[in-house]
Amino acid sequence: MIIKGNITRNLLLCSSYWMISRSTGARALIFVVGLEKIYAVSTARSKEASKQTKFQAVNDGRRGRLGCDGSVLIDSTKNNTAEKDAPPNQTLRGFGAIERIKRTIEHACPNTVSCADVLAIAARDSVVMSKGPNWPVWLGRRDGRVSIANETKQLPPPTANFTRLTQMFGAKGLSIKDLVVLSAGHTIGTSHCSAFSDRLYNFTGKVNLNDIDPLMDTQYISRMRTRCSLTDNTTLVEMDPGSFKTFDTSYYKFVAKGRGLFHSDASLLANSFTKDYVFKHANGFESEFYQDFADSMISMGNVGVLTGNQGEIRKKCYIINN
Ligand code: HEM
Repeated sequence: MIIKGNITRNLLLCSSYWMISRSTGARALIFVVGLEKIYAVSTARSKEASKQTKFQAVNDGRRGRLGCDGSVLIDSTKNNTAEKDAPPNQTLRGFGAIERIKRTIEHACPNTVSCADVLAIAARDSVVMSKGPNWPVWLGRRDGRVSIANETKQLPPPTANFTRLTQMFGAKGLSIKDLVVLSAGHTIGTSHCSAFSDRLYNFTGKVNLNDIDPLMDTQYISRMRTRCSLTDNTTLVEMDPGSFKTFDTSYYKFVAKGRGLFHSDASLLANSFTKDYVFKHANGFESEFYQDFADSMISMGNVGVLTGNQGEIRKKCYIINN
């Protein structure tokens, strides 16, 4: 059974989660993301290392039924390649931060809080800490015991067009509005050049400098080319330049100008409803967007949840019990 969580209850249940956040100075920026994805971005300054780590996690495959069951956290074994090692997830970071939170919680209240719930709470708190909206997180998700790399094919790629995006969201019970609202998760974080360099070079396979994605602003293309060569797969680019650590509406400003980084971002201008939403929120209406984002995050956080006797409460997020 899923129960509605709030800060007080979380504090009572798992005060150690908050302690670890404070003691490490962790500034988790974690989002429950696209369809069944959970991306997490965390900037953590640990006492030992004082270094920044970034976390991003994508969730979850379970026998073709993707859902929020923490399966992206599971490591591959010699007999199984897990989601975490599938191409779309190879850029994910910060698994250690979640593992540390889980370890502390497990110490204080064993067999109680699932890794899936840890991710969902951290996602919400991360947005709040980035000056974004707050929302109630229903708790009681259980962890999946299956993680199959091949199932990440169900995740939308950055090259997806509007039709494909709506199909993939729709397959999870998420609406066109959820798509345009949740895409603004790209107000936070960075992307590798390789996720969008096809838009800058040889977009249709012609090898000439004019073969670019027509949906991207040409000045922006020139700027991005100075950052990303055709073969660059290591450089990170801010998705929302100027405020990539702050949750705000400037993502929509960029998309409205043809400066969304991914083809999927640009696709939001291909439909009248999503286009109107982008242009409206490029000009403000922040509180409406915040409420919409909170609502859509709740919807996405309820996709494919395991409850009751399904799955388990993993002791360690990277490995199933037994
Ligand atoms: C609509 C479908 C989506 C697609 C195709 C997509 C695609 C991507 C890609 C390709 C990256 C860059 C990964 C990398 O190079 O490291 C990325 C990053 C990111 N996405 Fe999405 N995304 C989608 C939806 C979402 C949603 C719904 C959210 C949040 C609600 C979100 C939040 C993020 C964040 C925070 C990052 C930055 C991660 C970091 O800084 O490490 N995305 N996304």
